[in-house]
Amino acid sequence: MSASLFVHSGEKNEKYQALLQQIPGLLDPQVDVIANMANVAAALRETFGFFWVGFYRVVGEQLVLGPYQGPLACTRIAFGKGVCGASWEQQKTLVVANVHEFPGHIACSEASKSEIVVPIMVDGQVVAVLDIDSDEFATFDDIDRESLEKICTCLSELYP
Ligand code: SME
Repeated sequence: MSASLFVHSGEKNEKYQALLQQIPGLLDPQVDVIANMANVAAALRETFGFFWVGFYRVVGEQLVLGPYQGPLACTRIAFGKGVCGASWEQQKTLVVANVHEFPGHIACSEASKSEIVVPIMVDGQVVAVLDIDSDEFATFDDIDRESLEKICTCLSELYP
């Protein structure tokens, strides 16, 4: 299956609406979720130009780096550690306006200033998280949270 993306040039909310309409066509239920995460990371990067966007998957007792776009990242994150581990532990989206003020933030890049982490839930368990970093403060708000949660719900439906 080949995928293509129409990138809307409007405001953030309009871009999310355009992307959300394309997500069902972008996802391929015939292949595993990792392949789909790869295209979702690319679509988010293409649409918004995020500094770092990608996934960490729950593998045993830790989060393990999955498909992403951006600078090199740490490969493993423990339960409860950093913003990603905290989102896993709390089973909810975390929006961090200033990562320097987040206790235990894991700085994969010095350039990262704000962050959003959205858990992917299957049967009440976190199976992965979507992590997006910005090189500006306070990039993410409720528009990001609501739209990214919808995207993560679409991905959660790909799990067997
Ligand atoms: N900053 C994240 C670690 C992952 S990198 O940002 C890609 C955290 O604190 O969990």
